[in-house]
Amino acid sequence: MTKYAFVTGANKGIGYEIVHHLAEKGYQVFLGARNKELGEKAVQALGFSNVSFIQIDLTDTQSIQNSLEEILKETDQLDLLINNAGISHNHQSQPSELDLKTLRQVFEVNFFGTFQIIQTFLPLVKKAQRGKIVNVTTDMASQTMFDNGQTAPINALGYNSSKTGVNSLTLAFGKEFGNKGPEIFGVTPGFTTTDLNGNAPGGKTTAEAAQIITEYALSETNYNGKILDKNGIIPW
Ligand SMILES: NC(=O)c1ccc[n+]([C@@H]2O[C@H](COP(=O)([O-])OP(=O)(O)OC[C@H]3O[C@@H](n4cnc5c(N)ncnc54)[C@H](OP(=O)(O)O)[C@@H]3O)[C@@H](O)[C@H]2O)c1
Repeated sequence: MTKYAFVTGANKGIGYEIVHHLAEKGYQVFLGARNKELGEKAVQALGFSNVSFIQIDLTDTQSIQNSLEEILKETDQLDLLINNAGISHNHQSQPSELDLKTLRQVFEVNFFGTFQIIQTFLPLVKKAQRGKIVNVTTDMASQTMFDNGQTAPINALGYNSSKTGVNSLTLAFGKEFGNKGPEIFGVTPGFTTTDLNGNAPGGKTTAEAAQIITEYALSETNYNGKILDKNGIIPW
């Protein structure tokens, strides 16, 4: 039976490679991108017949609704929903220097956008035999790890706290699902060299990062309500 996956923010970076991995595994993959041209270009560059483009902008409720309608034309069940799309902001600015507009923008995409997608696609994930929602997060959003100095010492309040919010979504929806519903969990790929961090050197490749995420997404183990890094469960 055909398995379906929807990956947001997949025209480039880690999301693009997640689509690549899942397409190789035989999934019918919807490659989500907010920009039609970039999304279609990415589908073309991948060159798989089982990948198609879906327009989705996390800041636009109508666009999220339209993406649902597009996907419903093909399937009413989604085995994997991978909430990968996200934005950062100037990592150098200290909390005292962060402006409210930037903070709101980051939350609009990372937190409110992800929340809307989860609610919108939940009926489809519930229909799959073992539907999973994977929220791409960061270890800097773990209050414990950040406080303990176990993460990069980047005090990016907007980015970090919006992802802490995403972790709260993981926990809250995970509690609702319990152990008999769909699964929802968060995965951090760890530092990866992408546009998100201005292609800062020394990070993982996007293929390495995607591998960490897809391994959990395809795992037999139930990680409902947990956040994970490449070594396993991490603290909140
Ligand atoms: N890179 C790292 O070190 C690292 C570490 C931990 C977690 N992560 C997480 O990994 C995920 C992927 O990031 P990345 O590093 O691959 O960054 P990236 O290359 O900048 O990719 C981000 C993707 O999100 C999309 N996006 C941004 N705003 C959007 C919106 N409003 N609606 C829909 N899509 C939107 C971007 O589209 P456009 O091309 O149109 O902007 C792009 O496709 C993010 O959630 C990030 O927080 C990254």
